[in-house]
Order: sequence, then structure tokens, then C-alpha cells
Amino acid sequence: MRMYDMIDKKKYGKEMTKEEIEFVINGYVADEIPDYQMAAWLMAVYYQGMTDEELIYLTDCMAKSGDMVDLSEVKGIKVDKHSTGGVGDKTTLVVAPLVAACGGKVAKMSGRGLGFTGGTIDKLESIPGLVTSMEEKKFFEIVNRLGVAVMGQSANIAPADKKIYALRDVTATVDSIPLIASSIMSKKLAAGSDKIVLDVTVGSGAFMKKKEDAVKLAERMVAIGEGAGRETVAILTNMDVPLGEAVGNDLEILEAIDTLNGNGPEDFKEICEVFAAQMLMLSGSGSAEECKALIKKAISERTALKKFAEMVKEQGGDERYIYEPERFTEAPFKKEFTAEQDGYIFHMDTELCGKTSVLLGAGRTTKESDIDAKAGIRFYKKTGAFVKKGEVLATLYASEEQKLKDACEYLKAGYVFSAAEPPAQKAVIARITKDGAEYF
Ligand code: URA
Repeated sequence: MRMYDMIDKKKYGKEMTKEEIEFVINGYVADEIPDYQMAAWLMAVYYQGMTDEELIYLTDCMAKSGDMVDLSEVKGIKVDKHSTGGVGDKTTLVVAPLVAACGGKVAKMSGRGLGFTGGTIDKLESIPGLVTSMEEKKFFEIVNRLGVAVMGQSANIAPADKKIYALRDVTATVDSIPLIASSIMSKKLAAGSDKIVLDVTVGSGAFMKKKEDAVKLAERMVAIGEGAGRETVAILTNMDVPLGEAVGNDLEILEAIDTLNGNGPEDFKEICEVFAAQMLMLSGSGSAEECKALIKKAISERTALKKFAEMVKEQGGDERYIYEPERFTEAPFKKEFTAEQDGYIFHMDTELCGKTSVLLGAGRTTKESDIDAKAGIRFYKKTGAFVKKGEVLATLYASEEQKLKDACEYLKAGYVFSAAEPPAQKAVIARITKDGAEYF
């Protein structure tokens, strides 16, 4: 086989065989195919797309390019959850211990922040002492005993994705539905869980800005998961506003603790309950109603909070921070961000909100840069709220005063005000399974 012919074939939209896809992926990972040819092939995929069969072969080959985690040492049905990313998306911090408190098993491998979106691993590491890298044996042991552990993805999970993603990043081929679907699902398949619940975010703070695209992405990912024999459910959630109130590492841990204590913002609470219920249903814990009842009990009796504290302790963290969140100290500087006019908040550019938090120090500007756990934003008024000129919309936190001034200026461009009330937004938009889509 020749890479030239593979590019030509895809360029004309012809369906590639399993062997041809393996030739491309394995050849690229082995440095036998140069970047310029792989880039041309990726661009051909970008324009021509892939059939479900091609996508299943591609994802399987990418997953098998590295370690395939064998979770058989963990007893019971293992259920994973993955979000396509967003701003203020701290769902895993609540859902993972909540599912475990209700009897589920969550062996979660998570990532760090990517661009304007935050990452679970960065958030967890803001708890003093907590480590997210550990031997697999210890990881399995904690999940068997507690029902939950969260570790960073090991270096050898889907290395093909790592190499291809870096090339996509510089060749304008990130925003391709089949390439995103295979990238995410290759890591999920390699991570070894039996069942997968996907959070496909949609809106101005998500990869998918339009609902039609998010539905397509969800359908493709469900087809890949089911094709690989893993029951997969995708939930479309709204990312046209930051999720909850907090954006930033310490701030999001605090909001997760608040939610595990039965408080927390309504949109975030709703999303956590929906995901926990889906995961429990896939685990065989009962009907939707029964799972919802388990969740309510785990929150009201604080067993989910206790589970989170136990997990933190097992992973070397100081559990006192979970029971006494006032131990988290505030950033040295803070500044109120106020409305410049009366009116409804008609729209928030959520990607810009995420980028503002990165400017404050909550995310990385280069792969090597450190993050500031205390930096971030607390949003009090979001899309749909009526506000008066001068009213506080958000508080910004940083370790340097100048960053606050720059970030406040930058954030202004993220708001559109109107005299008329904007249409209400739903936090949970649709549920997509192999049997079709259900809209809420
Ligand atoms: N997240 C991933 O892991 N891969 C993509 O392609 C996009 C988002």
C-alpha cells in the first residue's frame, strides 16, 4: 500500500477498508508516514467524512495503538462518563462520588484543561496533597473498595490520538465530527469501562456551537461505542452559558462540595442528577425513578459527600478541605464585574468567559505553563437575568491586580444585553442512544 493512494481514495470520498485505515494509523504512529501526507489525509477526511464502519475501524486502531486498560480486576459493571468540554464543567467531581455512593463503580481516567475548557485533573489537584497519577494496581484497589477513583490518563493511552491531535491542531482539522468522535472514543475504549455516558456540550462555550452538529457528534460517538460492544448513551447539554456559577480550579471544587451538600446552582444540580441517573441505570441499579431516589438519598444523607472525602483521602489529599471548605483561601486580589446598562442578559459568549478565566491564570496559555488554582470567576447573573446598570454580574479572582483589570476589559465583549427577555434555555437538551434521539 502507498499513502499517496490512501489520500487519493479519501479525496474522492471512497470508503476505505479496515486494512487501509490500519496502514494509515499504524504507519503514522511508527513515523513511516510523514506529517505532510497525514495532514493531507486528515483534510480529505474533513471534507469527505467517514462511514460508521470506517469510523469504528479508525477508533479501534487508535485505541489499540497503546495500552488497553483491563478493568476485569474491578468487580461489577464499570461505567465511565466523558464530557466534550466546556466552561465551569465540574460535573465529574460530583457525579463520580455520587454514583459510587449509590453502589456504582467508576474507574475514571480524566484529562487536564484544553484551551478555554477546564480539566478534572487540574481541578482535583487543587486539593492539597491529592495525587492523580498512581499505579494501576492501586487504582483498581481503590475502585474495588470505594467504588470510585479518578486518575490522570497514562501516557500510553491511545498514543495515535496524541500524535494525530497535535497535527490536527496546526492543520485546521480539529473541528471535524468524525475526527473528534474517534479522538474521544479511542481514549474511552482504551480506558476499559463496560458502559459509557457522554456529555456532548453545545453552544458558545463548546466545541459544537450548533445543535445539529452536536446531535451528529453524539450519534457518531454512540455508534462507535456500540460498535465496540460498549453500551453508550449521549446526553446533549447546554454550554451556551457557563455551567453553574464557578469557573476556575479551587472555585469549582468549592461549588462541587456545595452541590454534594445539597446546595449548588440549579442548572449544575440538574445536570449532575441526570448524569448520575444515566450511569446508575447503565450499571443495572434500577429504573429511572429508582435511580433518582437513590441519588436524592445520597445527597440528603451526605453519603456522596463522604464518598468524595474518602476518595480524596485515598488519593493522598487532605479530606478536611472537603468537610471544612473554608480552608481554601481566596486569591489575593478580586474585582467585581458590573453591568454597563439596564436590560436582560441576552447572550453570553461562553468561550470568551473561559478565555477570561485563562487570562486570570486558571488555565494554561502554553503546554508548560502552571495554572493558578485560586484564579477564576464566579458568575452571579447569567443569560436570561434582568440586571440594572452597576449591578454585580460576576467576581473575578487573580493573584495579580493587573490581570484583573485586563480580564474585566476583555470580559465586557462577552455580554449582549437586550430590552426583551431572551428565550429560556434548558440545561439538558436531548438523550441519544442507538435507538434514536429523545428531546426534552
Ligand atoms: N477532545 C478530544 O479529546 N479530542 C478532540 O478531538 C476534541 C476534544
